[in-house]
Amino acid sequence: MAIIKKASEITKMKESGRIVARTLRLVSETIVPGKTTPKQLDELAERLIREEGGVPSFLNYRGYPNATCIAVNNVVVHGIPTEDVLHEGDIITLDFGVYKDGWHADSAWTYPVGTISQIAQKLLNVTRESLFQGIAKARPGNTTGDIGHAVQKYVESHGFGVVRELVGHGIGERLHDEPSNVPNFGKPGKGDRLREGMCICIEPMINEGTHKVKTLEDGWTVVTADDKLAAHFEHTIAILKSGPEILTTEG
Ligand code: MF3
Ligand code: CO
Repeated sequence: MAIIKKASEITKMKESGRIVARTLRLVSETIVPGKTTPKQLDELAERLIREEGGVPSFLNYRGYPNATCIAVNNVVVHGIPTEDVLHEGDIITLDFGVYKDGWHADSAWTYPVGTISQIAQKLLNVTRESLFQGIAKARPGNTTGDIGHAVQKYVESHGFGVVRELVGHGIGERLHDEPSNVPNFGKPGKGDRLREGMCICIEPMINEGTHKVKTLEDGWTVVTADDKLAAHFEHTIAILKSGPEILTTEG
């Protein structure tokens, strides 16, 4: 499995990425405070992915039971969709991948449920912007450390915590590929060198309070150690001669 992709292969990943972005948009639009459950969102996402000829990348991945990971409030990642109704003021992350024609794409986005607190809104804004700070460094010749450093510097300047235990990753014919470690922290010039044709997922997981996390007894659900809020934004990026190209967009 070559980690340097041809233009024709990146075109295929772009189609998977388009389905991810379309599904995120359509699913997020159905959220009604006091009504919707994560389980309903998961089922809708799976239907929309299959309707476009895709397969959910996460379903059965290392035994994962659903199409999506859904993380509410203090859940950082790998939340198994529950039947607990969402409430006004919650924040909810939808995270999933799509596999189509042999290629994966993967994205996550945190949404407000109705009106949210000022601190929750700031956490969403800072986490989303930190993703774009990282993406700007995804250029041939730079390193994964350049990306991590940019994310960490931005996030910590706003007083939030960068999760260390979970990182971004290469992606392509496999959901998790080389380079296996795309951290959201680190030092410029360290880590793996980025080359033209690589595709990576950059996915800052950012906590309102401590950066520390713990895993619940289900073996999947990762929550903040202090039970404060967490946000997570992720895009699949192709590293081109001209710079980064976001593949998980409707274009
Ligand atoms: N959230 C992870 C990522 O974005 C993948 C989850 S794997 C699963 O890379 F098994 F939980 F689905
Ligand atoms: Co990912």
